[in-house]
This record gives sequence, structure tokens and C-alpha cells, in this order.
Amino acid sequence: MSFPLELVQTIRAVKDVAVLTGAGVSAESGVPTFREAQTGLWVRYDPQELATPEAFRDNPSLVWEWYAWRRELIAKARPNPGHYALVDMEQRFPSFALITQNVDGLHQLAGSKAVINLHGNIQLTKCSQEGILVEKWEDTGVIPPRCPHCGGLLRPDVVWFGEALPPGAFNAASQAARRCDLFFSIGTSSVVEPAASLPYLALEHGAVVVEINPSETPLTSAATYAFQGPSGQVLSALVEAVWS
Ligand code: OAD
Repeated sequence: MSFPLELVQTIRAVKDVAVLTGAGVSAESGVPTFREAQTGLWVRYDPQELATPEAFRDNPSLVWEWYAWRRELIAKARPNPGHYALVDMEQRFPSFALITQNVDGLHQLAGSKAVINLHGNIQLTKCSQEGILVEKWEDTGVIPPRCPHCGGLLRPDVVWFGEALPPGAFNAASQAARRCDLFFSIGTSSVVEPAASLPYLALEHGAVVVEINPSETPLTSAATYAFQGPSGQVLSALVEAVWS
């Protein structure tokens, strides 16, 4: 795969880089995305039934079991070359921020350090009443399990539709998008706000924006560069082209 010389030179010259990733980065690890035809989770399941506070209120055991199923799926997944290419890139710039919408923890597992989890982490569990993280609870067979402190229902520590993002996460992500010289948008359909606004924030502040996605998205026409391909392959080829 070849890349425009101008982009290669830009990547070699810039000091501050921000990356936004979506479910597509984990697709090559076997983790389903949300909106892809046939295989997407939101094509096969109704997000309103599974990923909203109302869904959890109305049917907490269904929501808990669905996330338990996703946790098991993700537990078998391993980072792919795209995750590792981002770990490599993190070492190459004085300032680097990896903003992820993913809750699978694969960036951290691959070794990324500067990760901003916009939508939480599916491996973590919190009390739905107190909002605090809970690591251990009595397994009474009741689903969802109860908080050992207050008896409230436990829930996954992920953002549901209509919920606020973790405090500070979006501020940190916006700051990174504003200050960067180069912004990558990788493996996201660019439709879920507020994450989808980040590449435009970077563009407004003069950054070069690079999109990597096998399909077109609403961002594609606005991006400075758009590479249509799987992120595992494109990112590995880009690292090779710039730093080998
Ligand atoms: P989507 O499922 O909406 O989009 C996945 C994107 O990945 C699509 O644009 C695919 O074309 C692309 N893709 C597929 N395979 C790929 C590959 N090998 N390499 C690169 N890209 C690939 O997932 P997100 O954009 O992440 O919200 O969805 C955003 C949010 O909506 C998620 O964080 C989740 C969901 O509801 C919460 O959990 C709050």
C-alpha cells in the first residue's frame, strides 16, 4: 500500500497527534461492530432495548446478560496489528492522545498508554445507585447482582444512549482535538455524538485529518486524506512507510 509523500512528510514533521477509534479497529480481533449490515450488533439487536437507562430499568437482567455475553466475547479477543501500530505511533510523537469509543479495553491490552475512554469500559462494573465501581460482590444467582454497599443493581461501567460521558473524558478529548496538528479517525461510522464532532474540531483548528475505514462515512469528504481499507493493514503499512 502506498501513501502520498506529502502525508508521509507531514507525519514525520508533526509534534502533536490525536487519534479517534471506533469499533472497526477491533473488527480484525473478531469483536463485532455496531452498525455494519448483517453482522452489526445494532442490526441484530435493538439498542433501545439493551443500551439505555430505560432498558436497564425495565429489564435489568436482559441488559446484564447481554453485556455478560459481550464481555465473554471480548475476553477471547486479542489486539490486532492495528492496535499494535497505534502503540508504536504513540512512542513517535512528543504529544499523543488515543481517544476511543470502544469499551473492549484492547488498546490498553496492546500497550497504549494515553487512552481516553469516551464510552467507559465493559470489563468494569459499577453500582447503578451510587455510581461507584464495584470489584467484588456475592454471587447469589440473582441477575443483575446487587451492590455489596447499598443493595442497588450492579451494571456495566459503559455509557448508554442518553447518558453523559465520563466526566472529563470529553474535555480531554476536545483539548487533544483542538491542539493537535494531525488527527486520525479510524474504524468509526462517525455518526455518534459527541465523538463524531472531534475530527471537525481538529479541522477547524488547522489539523490534517486522516480517515481509515473500509467504507465511506459522513467524515470522508471532509477529511484531508481518506484510506479505504481495514485498519490493521492500513496502519501497519503506514508505520512501515513513515518509519522504516
Ligand atoms: P460502528 O459499528 O457504528 O462503525 C464501525 C465502523 O468500522 C464502520 O464505519 C465500518 O465501516 C468500520 N470497519 C469495519 N471493519 C473495519 C476494519 N477492519 N478496519 C477499520 N474500520 C472498519 O461503530 P462505532 O463508530 O464505534 O456507543 O460506533 C460508535 C458508538 O456507537 C459505539 O461506541 C457504541 C455504539 O452505540 C456506545 O457504546 C455508547
